Amino acid sequence: MTYDFDRIIERQGTNSTKWDRCTALFGREDVLPMWVADMDFACPEPVLRAIKERTDHPTYGYSFPPASLYESIMAWYQERYGWKLNEEWILFTAGVVNALYTAVEAFSEVGDQIIIQSPVYPPFFSTIRNLGRHVLNNQLLEGENGYRMDWDDLEKKLSGHNVPLMILCSPHNPVGRVWSKEELSRLAQLCLDHNCLLISDEIHCDLLLWDNQHIATSTLSSEVEERTITLGAASKTFNLAGLATSYVIIPDDELRKRFVRWRAGDNQGNMFGYIAMEAAYSQGGDYLKQLMSYLEGNMRFFADSLAERLPQLRMSLPDATYLAWVDMRELGLSARQLTQLLCNEARLGLNAGEMFGPGGEGFQRFNLGCPRRVIAEAVSRLEGALQRF
Ligand SMILES: Cc1ncc(COP(=O)(O)O)c(C=O)c1O
Repeated sequence: MTYDFDRIIERQGTNSTKWDRCTALFGREDVLPMWVADMDFACPEPVLRAIKERTDHPTYGYSFPPASLYESIMAWYQERYGWKLNEEWILFTAGVVNALYTAVEAFSEVGDQIIIQSPVYPPFFSTIRNLGRHVLNNQLLEGENGYRMDWDDLEKKLSGHNVPLMILCSPHNPVGRVWSKEELSRLAQLCLDHNCLLISDEIHCDLLLWDNQHIATSTLSSEVEERTITLGAASKTFNLAGLATSYVIIPDDELRKRFVRWRAGDNQGNMFGYIAMEAAYSQGGDYLKQLMSYLEGNMRFFADSLAERLPQLRMSLPDATYLAWVDMRELGLSARQLTQLLCNEARLGLNAGEMFGPGGEGFQRFNLGCPRRVIAEAVSRLEGALQRF
């Protein structure tokens, strides 16, 4: 079927984190929310149908992930990433951040240093710190052609600190990079050389723009596969985050047993999450194809609008995700002034760059997973605010 991504769906009043928490977060109700990473599009039709069918049944007792769900995940990874999974490698978790907490607890000790690469998804910092570990930041480098890894710094940090874990974001939120095979191989080899386990958060891996190809870290070699914990979900791809169901893939038996010992309960997630994920992976290919084509249009539209109407703001087209990382440093404003301008003058609810750690200052993250008309409205609001400013 043909999906209508232009359709405006009223989300206010649905207990939506993105739409119904504006006053609490931005101090006013009338901001246009383009922050947290969920999309304003309807989920794929097969997902809606499968959930409706299940709600017709009058009992909602305990439920477990069926064999057909494992098969749908395995087929998805085989077909898209050439990764042949074994069923027992897949463990269900109640969200990717939840899985990250378990992995950090299972594979490191209080007081350990854990490497991440800022600017990066804020819960990477908070998970490490809340669990009494320390962030060892291998900040990304900003160059003419986008972001790249700082290899000298990474090697120094891995060799000097006895680091048990590194958390990789692949593709990278917020900078939108799809890491190349060369980059991933170099990083994975450094981790192997220094006996550092790799947690590869690949939640955005299906959201590939412009024919980019995602390399699942574990497919680099069997050695890397044994030392990598992959975090995955259908939640970003198909807009299912409220169903709080995701998975980890851990090929190594010992590591998997250890993860299971730390995980609260048997399989996590829930019946609606399982049903939605299976329908999405087994019947959602067509939706994803149309979605990516629409998102490419959104990215181009936004980038072109900024270039024409707001040339002080800079944005490079990302390789993946529906997130635009916009450089506002040329405005010369402090973080507080920028927030004041965006929130109170432009009336936009965005993610401020500082949230993503060092390297994020002066940037804002825009969520473009919305009808194009909403992006046009955001550009007009920005333009008006900057003219007044
Ligand atoms: C890199 C990354 N990991 C994890 C998550 C959140 O996953 P979950 O909602 O399953 O905890 C996000 C959401 O934006 C993300 O960008």
